[in-house]
Amino acid sequence: VEELERLCIRFAVEAGRFIRDERPPRMGVAATKSTETDVVTVMDRRSEELLHRLIQQARPDDGILGEEGADVAGSTGLTWVIDPIDGTVNYLYEVPAYAVSVAVVVGDARTEQGWAPVAGAVADPSLRLVHHAGRGTGARTRPEGDLDVAATALTVSGEDRLARTLLATGFGYAPEVRARQADVMRRVLPRVRDIRRIGSAALDLVRVAEGSVDAYAETGLNAWDLAAGWLIVEEAGGVVVGAQGRPGKELTVAAGPALVEQVRTLFTDGTPD
Ligand code: IPD
Repeated sequence: VEELERLCIRFAVEAGRFIRDERPPRMGVAATKSTETDVVTVMDRRSEELLHRLIQQARPDDGILGEEGADVAGSTGLTWVIDPIDGTVNYLYEVPAYAVSVAVVVGDARTEQGWAPVAGAVADPSLRLVHHAGRGTGARTRPEGDLDVAATALTVSGEDRLARTLLATGFGYAPEVRARQADVMRRVLPRVRDIRRIGSAALDLVRVAEGSVDAYAETGLNAWDLAAGWLIVEEAGGVVVGAQGRPGKELTVAAGPALVEQVRTLFTDGTPD
């Protein structure tokens, strides 16, 4: 696990530096995906190609599943689940809150069930930081430039009251999904301290892990949005759940143990997407 964690850190940092430092001067939208709001830039694709290459050099027999289409079966039972730019809309507008998320999972990440992260890293190129965890090894943050520098251990907030909860959330790209999410927000907003829409699910999860928000909840996430952050939250003492059991498309809720059930109830009371 420690070796896999080191590789996650190395790959996430390298791709993070690439998207920050090699950003073309007049970068536009390369394509749209599910809707006109769901954008891909040329750098999403190039970052995924870079990660693909790095992974295949170091671990040629592992599987790869990437947001921009990477899908390699592998033969080891381990799959690299990668988001080459999480927070693409922020990246497009130069809002400094985007990430590269790299995780290694056991099991088949193409399905909603039956996989679990064992190592992961989320690079935050704007802050030049990398957040990482291995199953059983704790969650840490370090500067991207010097991986020998002593890391800071991450711990979730101890908040236990919704009324004092700073809650991060995010929204999907489809109008009908957003309409349902807006209905949920009508119910949630009056009950919490405030809401943050940071724009990167991976960074939202990191923020829960470091206690700079108390909780995070969002519907519609894919494996690559949450695989690394899920492990980082758990290794920071937090809990990540879904509407019933594990997190996934239906719902992902992350918080400290004293808060997580309250947030889950808030989001499942009614019919959030
Ligand atoms: C998106 C971001 C956003 C979240 C969306 C994700 P992308 O990922 O994480 O914060 O609200 O659900 O799809 O498209 O920028 O990789």
